[in-house]
Amino acid sequence: MSKKVIMSDQVVGEHCSVQGALHQDSYQEGYSFPREVLFDKARMKRLFHNKWCFVGTRGDVPDTGSYLSFRLFENSYFLIHGTDGVIRCMVNRCAHQSAHLVTENVGKCPAKIMCPNHQWTYNLDDGSLYHAPRMSDEFVCSDAGKASSLDNIKLEEVAGMLFMSLGEGAPDEDIQGMRELLDPYVGPFHLDKEGYKLAYHEREVLDANWLTVMINNRECCHCQMNHKGLLKLFSDSSFNGGREPSYMAAFSKASERWDDKGLLWKEKAFDEHDCCRIARYPMKEGFKSTSFDGKPCSAMLIGPHKEYDEGTLSFWLNPNAWVHFTSDHIATNWVLPIDEHKCILYTSWIVHKDAVEGVDYEKEHLTSVWKVTNSEDVALCRSMTQGAYSAHYRPGPFSDDERHCTQFCNWYMKYSR
Ligand code: FES
Ligand SMILES: [Fe+2]
Repeated sequence: MSKKVIMSDQVVGEHCSVQGALHQDSYQEGYSFPREVLFDKARMKRLFHNKWCFVGTRGDVPDTGSYLSFRLFENSYFLIHGTDGVIRCMVNRCAHQSAHLVTENVGKCPAKIMCPNHQWTYNLDDGSLYHAPRMSDEFVCSDAGKASSLDNIKLEEVAGMLFMSLGEGAPDEDIQGMRELLDPYVGPFHLDKEGYKLAYHEREVLDANWLTVMINNRECCHCQMNHKGLLKLFSDSSFNGGREPSYMAAFSKASERWDDKGLLWKEKAFDEHDCCRIARYPMKEGFKSTSFDGKPCSAMLIGPHKEYDEGTLSFWLNPNAWVHFTSDHIATNWVLPIDEHKCILYTSWIVHKDAVEGVDYEKEHLTSVWKVTNSEDVALCRSMTQGAYSAHYRPGPFSDDERHCTQFCNWYMKYSR
């Protein structure tokens, strides 16, 4: 069998797979990345200039003034919900002396964005300077004052999901293509309207290489040994595309139910758009939502659901996210690099706007499945990153059924040139 070998930038030829595996400097399709790619920060940066990355949903910043901050490489940014209902992404840097403007992970700016350092104040909707204490009255209207607006970063909303890009290289066609693909599945949840609230958000700095985290996310073969909790809810076959008869029967029964409810379930496996995979999975019988006890996570249903459905609608978005919709909440996970050694994993749980904590949902009950599952994955990612530092590191092969790992690696090589 021969496989493509891709040097740092291009396909250079066909090589025997065994020889290719031993080649340390080149990427070979079907194998994990060589160290030179894993720890190439400049290549990571090119990717984030060339493509759109997921940075949350409208449910993270559900009403006027609400913000969510995040970090990509050495830069801090924040999403902010304007008085005009538009969500924007701004650089978290005051034009006065460069202090961070928002200092919490999530929060709310009352009417303006005020720097905590010397109280320069900016308008919510465009980041223009509104007031600068101790400066002359004319300063705000002067050219220097106008040049003190906050920097806005390209942000696009697709069915309530938010995508940003660092550069001009991210194609508009990507957004259009994602819109066409995601709208029929996400549209019925009306996430682009004001029907949701952020029930809980957490983030963790990981001592793990960002690419390693993404490959782990696209992989299924670690689940059986490492996600015993998650496998109370789901059949292992659901993740690995297995054809185990009892799972096939459960899927067939579930797909009839989804047809009856008008819920789309046909998988889109990065085939119609190379940034998106969509799949609807049945949960095990009796599981109303993604909780360990199978009970609903929230008393308030969302989107198209008129009753609890024993299934999830899941999205895997290149380069950096995976998102799960159930009948009563949305769980989003996204990961961004700080550098080639560390990254941050962001997770949000979004519920119906009228759901009340302690009445309709309990935070611990709502969040435990993905908290536990993520912590299991984080341990694996740290371990693999440590392994990649070793002088004995060599890229290893993916099994044939781990095609999503291969898809991610090929995709990354293609767009990070
Ligand atoms: S650094 Fe922000 S007001 Fe001075
Ligand atoms: Fe996992």
